[in-house]
Amino acid sequence: MSYPYQIRSLEQYHNDYQRSVADPARFWSEIASYFTWKKYWHHVTDWNFSEPHIRWFEGATLNITENCIDRHLATKGNQPAIIWEPNDPNERHRVITYNSLYQKVCQFAHVLKNNGVQKGDRVCIYMGMIPELAIAVLACARIGAIHSVIFGGFSAQSIADRLYDANAEFIITCDGAYRGQKDIPLKSVIDDALIGNRTVKRVIVYTRTRTPVSMIKGRDVWWEDEIQHVVEQGYTDFPAEEMKAEDPLFILYTSGSTGKPKGVVHSCAGYMVYTNYTFINVFQYQPGDIHFCTADIGWITGHSYIVYGPLSAGGTTLLFEGVPTWPDAGRFWDIVDKYKVNILYTAPTAIRSLMGFGDAPLQGKDLSSLKVLGTVGEPINEEAWHWYNENIGKGKCPIVDTWWQTETGGILISNLAGVTPAKPAHATYPLPGVQPILVDENGNEIEGNSVSGNLCIKAPWPSIIRTTYGDHERCRTNYFATYDQLYFTGDGAQRDADGMYRITGRVDDVLNVSGHRIGTAEVENAINMHAGVVESAVVGYPHDIKGQGIYAYVIYNGHHVGDEELTRRDILQTVTRIIGPIAKPDKIQFVSGLPKTRSGKIMRRILRKIAENELGSLGDTSTLLDPAVVDDIVKGKL
Ligand code: PRX
Repeated sequence: MSYPYQIRSLEQYHNDYQRSVADPARFWSEIASYFTWKKYWHHVTDWNFSEPHIRWFEGATLNITENCIDRHLATKGNQPAIIWEPNDPNERHRVITYNSLYQKVCQFAHVLKNNGVQKGDRVCIYMGMIPELAIAVLACARIGAIHSVIFGGFSAQSIADRLYDANAEFIITCDGAYRGQKDIPLKSVIDDALIGNRTVKRVIVYTRTRTPVSMIKGRDVWWEDEIQHVVEQGYTDFPAEEMKAEDPLFILYTSGSTGKPKGVVHSCAGYMVYTNYTFINVFQYQPGDIHFCTADIGWITGHSYIVYGPLSAGGTTLLFEGVPTWPDAGRFWDIVDKYKVNILYTAPTAIRSLMGFGDAPLQGKDLSSLKVLGTVGEPINEEAWHWYNENIGKGKCPIVDTWWQTETGGILISNLAGVTPAKPAHATYPLPGVQPILVDENGNEIEGNSVSGNLCIKAPWPSIIRTTYGDHERCRTNYFATYDQLYFTGDGAQRDADGMYRITGRVDDVLNVSGHRIGTAEVENAINMHAGVVESAVVGYPHDIKGQGIYAYVIYNGHHVGDEELTRRDILQTVTRIIGPIAKPDKIQFVSGLPKTRSGKIMRRILRKIAENELGSLGDTSTLLDPAVVDDIVKGKL
């Protein structure tokens, strides 16, 4: 049985797109009618972008876990919901059926309740890629607690900031996590994050690596012991909390152009409907298909297309704990072969990195089960697109280039696999319900084709950001104030002669390093924390594997002046402590001054050009306070 709202032809795509724009309320209420609700809505949508005030399915009540689990039990109870492949290929994999997922989520929901978690409480989840991470997420949703998953690569300081911002009282973590050859001491990072914290009441720790951990009496408990209590109490079910459509489902922190990450808030109903709809349509998921999304659940891609999208569709989602290059660069292809994966969804950075290993890792791997390939997170260059198409898809798998953001909840612009046309390096056409427009700096619409501009969206789709946690004004100024009555994405885009979109990258001060979003201001703040650093400026530059690398210009006047290499390492260590290893600059150039205007503004454009090695096009430097600074920087370029 297929899905009633799955688009199966180009003609149907055009029809559905027209219907979605002409009458969004009718379009989305038809789709929403296929979900399980406790109460139906009285209003499909109600919005204005000025506040912003955005509501979908107002009046309805539901629980997303009933849609992701309970409703599949009668027909798919014994089918795999989650297949887990461990980091080490010699360890046994796990298969969690829908029946078993139901049981585990209900049990853990009891654990949460027994530990004092209530509806609306913020629960921070800091775990490796194990099934218990998905179970923790779903158990929060079941009792109506707001989960805030933090990627395992963030530092104690980053966690502390997020705990504070969300006023979180509960943490779910592991003793440690495996990533390739590394064993990351998650609980110990949490312990550091909790120094001085006054809000967290309970830390629940799952045993994964059996790394020694300190368990603080009255605060820390073991996951396994807590489950044991629930089993002894004889609980098997946990009634799903009745949530209002617009109740928050989760917070996910992401970087913007300011120094402080924002807590993007998604709500229950709209997010559920849209992630399900896009999962089924973009990937053309068919019941029984094995969907392998290689992202981490700590990012939005993992939330939407490992957990909520696939499970709400009654699908089978493959969760992989490791990294693409360990024990060797054939890891993904072994997994595809072992589980007969049908859909592979990964990032251009992974493709470029694996491409570098040549054909050898592909030898002897049967990839014939693959039907659809996907990419996400950053622009894909044509060379990588063709390599993916020829070597992995063997020229017979459509590639979906899916453009979206943490704030959009689900995919907004993408071809639909095998249904709408693909074009290398182009996200192509918008999904039904999505109305992209290009504007110039003044917000004037740029009409017609073969044009480029700043990408905005005219009207809300169900999973658009609702607010930034604890600071609604920040949400307005970041996304809805740049251009009147438009959601501004922060991306630049081209619209080609066929009206297809090609996303060219961020137009704000946000970097995209290996598909991870990092604000330049955040990295600068971290560098400036290092004693001896006077000032710094960070820009991106093209990087063969990562897409963008981080280039830092630093004025340093501290200890060990003269031993540049040691100072560099000190600065890297500082950034790792403050943000995490993902934000470490690739290049640090020590400079005597930064190019500033007379009003003191750093001319990043010039620094960007130097980092990009476009020395011939530095532009007019005569308006600078001290033009000689530029010559010095060019001379010292790395
Ligand atoms: O610049 C765009 C880029 O990633 C940004 C969103 O990052 P994040 O919120 O971390 O979410 C990543 C996963 C959805 C966007 O503003 N981006 C994402 N997908 C694409 C992309 N750039 C080009 N092509 C894409 N397919």
